[in-house]
Amino acid sequence: MRTPIVAGNWKMNKTIAEARELVSAMRDELSRLAADGRIEIVLCPPFIAVPEVSARVQGTPIRVGAQNMHWETKGAFTGEVAAPMLNEVCEYVIIGHSERRQYFGETDESVNKKIKTALAHHLKPIVCVGEKLAQNEAGQTDAFVGGQVRAAFQGIARDDARSIVIAYEPIWAIGTGKAASGAGANAVIGLTIRGALADLYDEATAQAVRVQYGGSVTPKNAAEFFTQPEIDGALVGGASLVAADFVAICKAAAK
Ligand code: PGA
Repeated sequence: MRTPIVAGNWKMNKTIAEARELVSAMRDELSRLAADGRIEIVLCPPFIAVPEVSARVQGTPIRVGAQNMHWETKGAFTGEVAAPMLNEVCEYVIIGHSERRQYFGETDESVNKKIKTALAHHLKPIVCVGEKLAQNEAGQTDAFVGGQVRAAFQGIARDDARSIVIAYEPIWAIGTGKAASGAGANAVIGLTIRGALADLYDEATAQAVRVQYGGSVTPKNAAEFFTQPEIDGALVGGASLVAADFVAICKAAAK
């Protein structure tokens, strides 16, 4: 049995003070939901708020993650943040979000390097994959997303692969209010993503890796995804900035 994992990707939102407020508003309910291990909950604020959020959830089952990292561990990379720095303050790191691929030159190759560095420094990667609308409409989803998975896991050992979380986020569904259908996302995750993992490793590994859906998940549509057999939780953007909405989504995942 794979434990569902719901992660809130706050993107470039919330000052430290605002982050503190948001955590206070949902900490008790999230703690209760994650307490019995039925689901895992991860908050991913901007770098600068990560230590504050970690301090605020200390002693609770709520986990914290960053939204990016560099593949080098230190050095002359102005403005970047390295895995050993994150490792002191959080447990997870989102790698290869489509916004990083689109706006900041993230490639399949840099994603692969970052995953390796994250694993070497005991950070758990949440690796994002997903196709553009044009690729989806041209019937290229399987080839494209399968290729992203193969590239991301290149050279990663089977035992390490099992600890990686994948987030399937069709780009056309992110922040658009136009979520994929539960059945559609389930098919891509089950056939394309687990299929690629089975090719790379074996069927048992493909079944062990947790794969989230992401893209316009709301309290209203959450159950549609969480009732699908291949979907193990969600990566939530906009709705993770509203305490009541994020709590409701986590509740749906814990059902
Ligand atoms: P969204 O973002 O929930 O606002 O669509 C999801 C994401 O980008 O992780």
